[in-house]
Amino acid sequence: MKILALNGTYRKNGTTTTLINKALEGAATIGAQTEHLLLKDFDIRYCTNCLKCYGDVASEIAPCTHDDDMTAILKRIKKADGVLFGSPVHMGYVTGLMHVFMERACFRLARPTGEIFGLKGCPEPRLTDKPRAAASIVTAGWVPEEMRQYCDLGTQWLKENVPMLINGEFVIDQYAAAYFPKELKDEEWHRAFFLRELTETQQREAFKLGKTFASRISDGNIGPYDVATLMEAFEQPENSD
Ligand SMILES: Cc1cc2nc3c(=O)[nH]c(=O)nc-3n(C[C@H](O)[C@H](O)[C@H](O)COP(=O)(O)O)c2cc1C
Repeated sequence: MKILALNGTYRKNGTTTTLINKALEGAATIGAQTEHLLLKDFDIRYCTNCLKCYGDVASEIAPCTHDDDMTAILKRIKKADGVLFGSPVHMGYVTGLMHVFMERACFRLARPTGEIFGLKGCPEPRLTDKPRAAASIVTAGWVPEEMRQYCDLGTQWLKENVPMLINGEFVIDQYAAAYFPKELKDEEWHRAFFLRELTETQQREAFKLGKTFASRISDGNIGPYDVATLMEAFEQPENSD
């Protein structure tokens, strides 16, 4: 069982990286072979909407006019049984880097031959060789758990889009809310991002997420992408593990 983590952070040793490492440690206890890629370490250029990928409906991984590191990463997704997406919350969403990555993956991993609610030309998976599982960890520097709905649009967006790209199911997610070891004074709030710390509980939760994720894959009960799954993701914005 192979689990690939794709990390959209800009900080190699930040909170997202720490929690992904914990999750992968947890997954390894179930026998997963793990790989952790920091997207910032790769040459990933912007999609130019040239439509080369969109125009090729036959390929399993569609071609692209850019000659950068994307093809290598997409091939790693194909090999994986589970893909863990990690991102800090930036302006209530995933990072720009994660979004650039997803735009580039969009029609390279999905072909526009599907049909949803009678609408033809919808994207459907190209990687139909096996189902893959997905999970996510997002970290925030300011917004507490109880206000997640105002901050974490990224998890919902990943749930709506990832199952189609990897041909599978979204299994579990973690929102690692901001935590400050002491109550912040009024004059400290403008420095909150600097004062935020990860809690032991959040690190344990990430470890457990990795174990649960790997167990679900190892049990063999991950289904391929289907439109009903996509609809569920739209209907349950608060759905988490
Ligand atoms: C441009 C920018 C926007 C951010 N927006 C938010 C936000 O909307 N809500 C929040 O709680 N934290 C926000 N943060 C804080 C980050 O989510 C937080 O520092 C996160 O833990 C960083 O992850 P990292 O340690 O992997 O870099 C933002 C940080 C940056 C740099």
